[in-house]
Amino acid sequence: MLLEPTVMLDNLVLSLSDSLDLIHPLAVGHQQRTAYIALRIAKSMGHHPAKQADLMYASALHDIGLLSVEEKIQSMNADSNDEGRHAGVGADLLRKFSSFNKASQIVRIHHRSWTDEPGQNETEGIKVLANMLCLADHVDRAVTRGTGILVQVKAVVERVSRLAGKEFSPEIVQCFRELAAEESFWLDFASSRIYPILVGMGQWPRVALDLHAMEEIAKIFCRIVDFRSRFTSTHTTGVAAVARELAGRMCFSEKACRQMLIAGYLHDLGKVAVPNAILNKPGRLDPDEFDVIRAHTYHTYHILSTIGGFEEIAIWAAFHHERLDGKGYPFHVRGEDIPLGARIMCVADVFTAVTENRPYRKGTGRNETLPILQRLARTGSLDDNVVSALTEKYDEIDRMRSDAQETSASEYSDFVRRKTEASESPSRM
Ligand SMILES: [Fe+2]
Ligand SMILES: [Fe+2]
Ligand SMILES: [Fe+2]
Repeated sequence: MLLEPTVMLDNLVLSLSDSLDLIHPLAVGHQQRTAYIALRIAKSMGHHPAKQADLMYASALHDIGLLSVEEKIQSMNADSNDEGRHAGVGADLLRKFSSFNKASQIVRIHHRSWTDEPGQNETEGIKVLANMLCLADHVDRAVTRGTGILVQVKAVVERVSRLAGKEFSPEIVQCFRELAAEESFWLDFASSRIYPILVGMGQWPRVALDLHAMEEIAKIFCRIVDFRSRFTSTHTTGVAAVARELAGRMCFSEKACRQMLIAGYLHDLGKVAVPNAILNKPGRLDPDEFDVIRAHTYHTYHILSTIGGFEEIAIWAAFHHERLDGKGYPFHVRGEDIPLGARIMCVADVFTAVTENRPYRKGTGRNETLPILQRLARTGSLDDNVVSALTEKYDEIDRMRSDAQETSASEYSDFVRRKTEASESPSRM
């Protein structure tokens, strides 16, 4: 009997961490290199494997609060002063999933100096782990990409050492200095194989995820994609709700319907690599801008397909701009090579895109939407049976879409309010 593939939390976290670092060549691998240094320190200081796991989740996702490409690039500057803000936004996103409770606390204070007054309810253990992350983040931002790593070691070690007892705990700096004496520490750090190196280091408890946990994590990433821009702030939630409902109508099992919901939450994940200037452009995109957009499902595929147990979800999510006649993008798969789950996602995506309101235009009503979908089915673009399933229960499905998007819109307003408060007083975050 074939065993069901199990999705492991560390694998999921590291793959999703990759997606956030895709944003810009400067940021590629930043969170994983940071995780590498932080974990080497935690290990060598003898921290418990469960704490190492919390530190791994926190470091691999520590910049999750930097939502736009523009913010991310700015933060890679070693002297960036956004510090407190993105930490608070990231912590708020992470704490929505219970297994990230500690990681969220670590992320919240990962730019706090060692000598700063501890915040309310802040434990010594969290403070120490956050300081390891702070130092690791500082090191990665101090290193110059494209220059040999070993020639930079002396300067980086001196830079960190000068901050001992101020920014960083003296014990943590001492431990870092000992590790920094090994060339292999730096060669691992600078290796393009950092993902397998991190996996190989893991002596932390491996957590298998159930569907509910996967939905919760996928929802965090759905918010990251949507909340970058008020133009599309509820799009993903709408697509996910419609795709799940259509899957049920196409006789998918309850489990497959929930996997479809997860695929819906993640379908536009690759959009994290699209700058806001393109994403928010109200008018027509020029050909170069459209090329950037066309790469987003390619990224979605490559991020999700590295997660063991996500093979089907990766295809359902990433083929949503493919078309039955082969005229979609970016893989140009056609006909039978597009599985039913992906055909459902294609219909859910087009349906949501035309019916949702955008700040610069109102969504279409039934009388305009159905002819669009039916024409796309007639011309061999979308699956006829899926479009028929939607047509049959149009009003019900449209209500589900708008309910899901309304809930998400109020979450978005809440998110914007908290982000604004944070930028007015970063120290409170
Ligand atoms: Fe960072
Ligand atoms: Fe898309
Ligand atoms: Fe989409």
